[in-house]
Amino acid sequence: MKILSKNGNELIMLAMKTDIATKGDYLLIEDEKSNKKMIVQIYDEDYFSSQSLIEDIVKDEVVVASSTENLHDPLNIGNLSRIIRDARLFRAKIRAAIDISDRLSSDISWLPSRVFSKVKRLRISELNSFLGRTGILPIPIGKTGKDNEDFDIYAEEFDGKLNIITGKKESGKSHLSKMLIKTLVQYGAFVIVFDLNNEYGGLAWNSDGSRSSIQDQVMILEPGNGLKFSLEYCGKSGISSMLKNSLDMPAASLREFFRIWDSLKNKKTLDLDSLGNAINTWNINELVRDALISRYHVIQTSRLFTDASKRDELRFESIITEKRKGAAMIVNMGKITSVVRKMIVELILSKLVDLLEKNIIPPIFLFAEEAQLYIRETYWEDIITRMRHFGIYTTFITNQPDAISDGIYRQVDNIFLFNFTNDADLDKLSKVSLVDNETIRSIAKTLPQRHCLAIGKAVSDLPVVVKIATTEILTLGETKKFFKI
Ligand SMILES: Nc1ncnc2c1ncn2[C@@H]1O[C@H](COP(=O)(O)OP(=O)(O)O)[C@@H](O)[C@H]1O
Ligand SMILES: [Mg+2]
Repeated sequence: MKILSKNGNELIMLAMKTDIATKGDYLLIEDEKSNKKMIVQIYDEDYFSSQSLIEDIVKDEVVVASSTENLHDPLNIGNLSRIIRDARLFRAKIRAAIDISDRLSSDISWLPSRVFSKVKRLRISELNSFLGRTGILPIPIGKTGKDNEDFDIYAEEFDGKLNIITGKKESGKSHLSKMLIKTLVQYGAFVIVFDLNNEYGGLAWNSDGSRSSIQDQVMILEPGNGLKFSLEYCGKSGISSMLKNSLDMPAASLREFFRIWDSLKNKKTLDLDSLGNAINTWNINELVRDALISRYHVIQTSRLFTDASKRDELRFESIITEKRKGAAMIVNMGKITSVVRKMIVELILSKLVDLLEKNIIPPIFLFAEEAQLYIRETYWEDIITRMRHFGIYTTFITNQPDAISDGIYRQVDNIFLFNFTNDADLDKLSKVSLVDNETIRSIAKTLPQRHCLAIGKAVSDLPVVVKIATTEILTLGETKKFFKI
């Protein structure tokens, strides 16, 4: 491979058919004169085409098509010209430089020699050693490069971070997020999953039907079954944000509701029955009563509430003391109406913030599938800025990158990008400041199945194409099929 030209922060390399490299590969360019090195990453591949070359190809085809006898070619020129026709251009982004003392340097303003530079493909292990990239809690997510080298990211890189896993349907997003969750829990983390397909319960099982290594740490929470709160536990603020945001309660009714709440609390009878009685008998405007009754009805039918006296309520702090070694709390939302989904999310998030604020629980990792379906728009910014501050570290998983607001893209730390062919989807991702637009566009469009481009802090800001490993986690939540073929 040879350097052909430079254009801004990219180099264009000339490669022959025998130079094997693909998009995403890293190259080391060693300038033997100055002893400096440069690390570049191939992001696009093209034919080497000049006008005369194309004319030649056309002429040749015409000659072959119109002549019947063998062409006489004693000097084997045909072979030579075939080699030229298969020459390729690699476009590569300059990612880093290495100075004379083999240290990483950000000075990429110099120009490597076209004559004295040697170009070689960098293995990921070599890249890691240049970067000094190591960690304590590895998460093996798959393999990378032609040499199929194992590729790890580190659990500690997820601490305090905001991540996005995106790609088109069926590309392997949930598969990757299950792998991440499993390893985080193995390392003792507490994870909450908003699961829209009721599929993360598979974390408790291996695909051969045996118990998984984290089975005792997996909890499946559903309304009426593990996911039940008492009014007292949710608190006035939790219930009020639920009424306001998920149930569109008007302000006037909300004020009346609080009076009822305070009175019940004073009488120490803050339970569902007393609340229902109070709403029916309270001296209020009938319109307000109607508003309260309809909300009370939703609260009752949601099966999300219980009375503290029944001792079947969910308390996050109890789960955390009970499951010392980490836990995956999976909130199954597949079969639930959208109103109840919103109520669940509102209640859980407000309670978590409350507990974190008082330092009662450790930080929590939150995995949210297609969050646009149950998190209100105004909450987005809140989740990332305020909640991250308190200790809720979110990973959004979506096949609709345009559902996530620009504000989030600007703050995101890591992106795991699977295949996207649609330009509109990729446009949205170009708001990401972690990597240049061309790399995202060119690589994402041709990513093979189950490959993802990892971008951000977890890969030390050097994007890597990873072939995601298969796992032994049981696959659940597949679409029910009518035709069983
Ligand atoms: N790296 C992988 N190795 C083996 N199977 C995979 C891999 N990634 C995904 N799958 C399988 O492909 C299917 C779709 O993957 P899934 O993660 O559910 O896609 P998505 O969430 O992007 O729609 C699932 O059956 C899953 O088990
Ligand atoms: Mg999925």
